Amino acid sequence: MLKIGIIVGSTRPGRKSDQVAKWYYDIAKSRPDAEFEIIDLADVNLPLYDEPLPAGYHDYKNEHTQKWAEKIAQYDGFVIVTAEYNHSVPAVLKNALDYLYLEWNNKAVAFVSYGSSNGVRAVNTLRLIAGELQMADVRQQVMFNVFTDFDENNKFIPADSKAESVNDQLNQLIPWSKALKSVRENI
Ligand SMILES: Cc1cc2nc3c(=O)[nH]c(=O)nc-3n(C[C@H](O)[C@H](O)[C@H](O)COP(=O)(O)O)c2cc1C
Repeated sequence: MLKIGIIVGSTRPGRKSDQVAKWYYDIAKSRPDAEFEIIDLADVNLPLYDEPLPAGYHDYKNEHTQKWAEKIAQYDGFVIVTAEYNHSVPAVLKNALDYLYLEWNNKAVAFVSYGSSNGVRAVNTLRLIAGELQMADVRQQVMFNVFTDFDENNKFIPADSKAESVNDQLNQLIPWSKALKSVRENI
């Protein structure tokens, strides 16, 4: 069975990403074509990049890097749930991506974002990063607005119709994850 990791891309107290990831997971888990797991960067708790070498050398010295690499190596594809911080990617998410290379390569990725402009600028940046990590980013994006998809207490209140966009996205992500698995097996 294909394994898809749903990455919770922000870690501040009171963050929105955990609610969005849980909502996505609850829709995704009923699909028969893949297994899903939430990967919470708050639990992973990586320090700022502290490896002597760039990740491309695949010579990880630190235990936290080796553990992170082992975790990410298990997955065939990813859904990244991201906020937009200063028109870009939350630092904790960029840091977690920077830590590894081979473990991201030849895997598919889909983006879920939120912000005052639905997080589109963060995702545009993530698409550039995905290219450098040799990840195949699917077109379909699931997007939320911080003013209309959350209530005044910060509670996530997505419209029912948004569930359809999750399945549209997974209909792109899962076939690409499957295809890239055979690429990894043949190199
Ligand atoms: C450091 C920081 C920078 C932000 N920059 C932006 C931004 O550029 N665009 C935007 O739409 N929202 C921005 N926001 C507001 C976030 O969209 C909002 O706080 C959101 O809840 C952050 O995601 P999180 O709750 O998962 O941390 C920023 C928030 C923070 C904390």
